[in-house]
Amino acid sequence: MTDKAEPGASHGGQRVGHGRVIAASISAAVGAFLFGFDSAVINGAVDSLSAHFALSSFVEGFAVAVALLGCAVGAWYAGQLADRLGRKRVMVLGAVLFLLSSIGSGIAFTVWDLMLWRIIGGIGIGIASVISPAYISEIAPAKIRGALTSVHQLAITIGIFAALLSDALVAHTAGGAGDTLWLGAPAWRWMFLIGAIPAIVYGILSLLIPESPRYLVRAGKDIEAARVLRSVVGDPDPDRKIVDIRSSLHQEARTSFRDIKGHRFGLKPLVWVGIILAGLQQLVGINAIFYYSTTLWKSVGFSESDSFITSVITSVINVALTFVAIIWVDKFGRRLLLLIGSCGMFVGLGAASLSFFHAVGSGDNISLPEPWGIIALIGANLFVIFFAATWGPLVWVLLGEMFPNNMRSYALAIGAVGNWLCNFLVSVSFPFLAQHIGLGTVYCVYAAFAVISFFFVKSKIPETTGAELEHMTGKTLHESN
Ligand code: BGC
Repeated sequence: MTDKAEPGASHGGQRVGHGRVIAASISAAVGAFLFGFDSAVINGAVDSLSAHFALSSFVEGFAVAVALLGCAVGAWYAGQLADRLGRKRVMVLGAVLFLLSSIGSGIAFTVWDLMLWRIIGGIGIGIASVISPAYISEIAPAKIRGALTSVHQLAITIGIFAALLSDALVAHTAGGAGDTLWLGAPAWRWMFLIGAIPAIVYGILSLLIPESPRYLVRAGKDIEAARVLRSVVGDPDPDRKIVDIRSSLHQEARTSFRDIKGHRFGLKPLVWVGIILAGLQQLVGINAIFYYSTTLWKSVGFSESDSFITSVITSVINVALTFVAIIWVDKFGRRLLLLIGSCGMFVGLGAASLSFFHAVGSGDNISLPEPWGIIALIGANLFVIFFAATWGPLVWVLLGEMFPNNMRSYALAIGAVGNWLCNFLVSVSFPFLAQHIGLGTVYCVYAAFAVISFFFVKSKIPETTGAELEHMTGKTLHESN
């Protein structure tokens, strides 16, 4: 379950435009939708659950971020499990974890069992983050694989949007996130419970889609693999394809963790470049917005309903700008877009930071005097605009293509784990830092990471646009010069 995620590798010979393969890809992308939904759904609930369980800012941050530790575990094991059990079974497992987490979080008795349910959901998210793009790239004909894999990132952003919209609607219906909605339960519990619906849909779709031909060949089920290749993928010559798959499986069996080991703190320099790139994507603080924006806007004097609406608008911007990345990625190249993204993120974060320094009052009576309220809003959304059009999708694109074949699967997995751990760091620290050093300083730190990200890309990231995966040298930009 590894080198199949190679965008651009030639499989040749397939007929394109198969309805069934598109339907299967979209079904698998529901996993990515749940990844977005389940990671962001806490946004609207966090204030009320924090008040309900009387949490300190540190425990509040931990309750939000603990899911991300589960994500790291899920992402690390998903590939191995999918090779052993099959892609479909792992997707069904993911759906069950999402379902358990939604119901468990919704009826949590204490913050401790809430954390347990969030870790369980996190494992589901980690699994989905690996299995959805992997399945899509295994089932898609080469010519439309790029477009179909982009469906994955789009589905994540749509999931975030759906979670924030659902949070806003639930809070609005109840009159407030802490007010009683149906069956005597407060709105914030329903925010989690609603996640059960897409989880069930995902479980059913996972049972209906065909198993990946790559897994079937690995399991020795060649006749079934040929059937899927012919009738779903539209491959006119399934037997040749099965031979191809078998030879790449053979090559893959010879790669091991040793291939990413090196002299720079135990790893090859390029592997570190991948880890740092993935980490920087989080250290600019994107999820301080997507997990905490409702709290953020309330904390600077917005009403609860305005805070919910602002969060929904930001998530729509996030979806819309992802299309820009999809359109521009092959035209302007990864490097240039990342550099532009770093500059734009710096301006947005800097403006937000400056505004937050002008907050007046304390506790519940805090506000941002004009024009700082509007500058904070524009700054934060400018940051999301540049992130969504560049660093959001491109880091995942690059991680999929910057490593040579022999180290790709391990290097990619370790990069993903680095991304989840930095996400954990930002999410666990945000409420605590906001309370103790102030929002202005926190955003200043995120802006500093945007500056670092610029110089990092400039000096370390090679341009991979248009290059064949087979031609990746395994060298950093610095080493190639
Ligand atoms: C990041 C997520 C983030 C999302 C926002 C992804 O690329 O990895 O952490 O929540 O973008 O759209």
